[in-house]
Amino acid sequence: MIATENQAAAIALEEEHTAHNYHPLPVVVAAGDGAWVTDIDGRRYLDCLAAYSAINFGHSNPMLLDAARAQLDRITLTSRAFHNDRLGPFVTALAALADKDMVLPMNTGAEAVETAIKVARAWGYRVKGVAADQANIIVASGNFHGRTTTIVSFSDDESAHNDFGPFTPGFRMVPYGEAAALAEAIDANTVAVLIEPIQGEAGIIVPPADYLPAVRELCTSNRVIFIADEIQSGLGRVGATFACDLVGVVPDLYLLGKALGGGIVPVSAVVGNDDILGVLRPGEHGSTFGGNPLAAAVGLAVVDLLETGEMQERARLLGKRLHAGLNRLTGHGVIAVRGAGLWAGVDIDPALGSGREVCELLLERGVLVKDTHGSTIRFAPPLVIDPADVDWAVDQLEAVLHELRA
Ligand SMILES: Cc1ncc(COP(=O)(O)O)c(C=O)c1O
Repeated sequence: MIATENQAAAIALEEEHTAHNYHPLPVVVAAGDGAWVTDIDGRRYLDCLAAYSAINFGHSNPMLLDAARAQLDRITLTSRAFHNDRLGPFVTALAALADKDMVLPMNTGAEAVETAIKVARAWGYRVKGVAADQANIIVASGNFHGRTTTIVSFSDDESAHNDFGPFTPGFRMVPYGEAAALAEAIDANTVAVLIEPIQGEAGIIVPPADYLPAVRELCTSNRVIFIADEIQSGLGRVGATFACDLVGVVPDLYLLGKALGGGIVPVSAVVGNDDILGVLRPGEHGSTFGGNPLAAAVGLAVVDLLETGEMQERARLLGKRLHAGLNRLTGHGVIAVRGAGLWAGVDIDPALGSGREVCELLLERGVLVKDTHGSTIRFAPPLVIDPADVDWAVDQLEAVLHELRA
């Protein structure tokens, strides 16, 4: 399948000297604009993955590119050894967007998660009064929070976890979506509950509507920090600024990443209030690139884009359209559709083929999507996608399923 001679040569070159930690679809992308990308032979594809939500605002978003270009000509990196004139406006705007008062800027999503773990532990010892090295953090089954050794220590995904021990202690896993199990697991040494409000990599799993409110209540009544990993679900994707908003829940810490960098630079952040984030003292945590002026300029432009609510509204309306289209395929090769906003996990009948096979057939039809586990594929197009393109993507899936059933 695919690849033209041209693309096969480009893939061979990349694979010869790249560690094989990914299994990309056989397409070599050279350019992107809005929801569309173009390969090196000039063929166009509708990007329905959007770099796992990092491209929420589309490829080459003019407003974000302008902000980056303007900053490139001024200064890009100072380190936090000095102040820079972009960080203040960025953190002020981001804190306001989240209705919190403090931001700790980092680069990748995994770094934001690691930061939150450190903050929660320090808060546990210094504020809650947990005895030294006794803190525990509760996580959920099926979680995906990144790839560092500590984070994979509490993953139940074998390929993420196996052969990477010894693992970091101090984590307990409970079934996702079950508040009673969480209540059972919390003890006097619990400092935080870390969960995705909607699980992305697990296959866009939406918990029961009363789950996040129950998590909030359990955290409050047990004096435990509620950490919502909104790295994939946040910043407009679900038709609201945060997935927690969909059920009216406010966590203590938001973890943000991916779309915060506008698809231009890696930007992540932990956002919360001074009573928790204020526990860190100078020298205890940091990152050479965290809060750099280029990242802050792009991050500020991202927050500006979200402030009007227009992107969230687009995701909500187009999400309805996407889900209506996908639901139409249920019983015709699709077993189940889950998700919120412009984010959908689609379970394909495994008798028809693996998720990977469906992705390869969609690629041939000009749609880029990615499988997660087994026969599940996900749709997460840029929020700037045209309504007609949403319908077209669903039509392509319908055609692929038709082909597989023939
Ligand atoms: C919910 C969630 N948390 C954390 C991460 C890790 O982010 P990064 O790949 O930028 O380290 C991801 C990445 O997919 C994610 O989906």
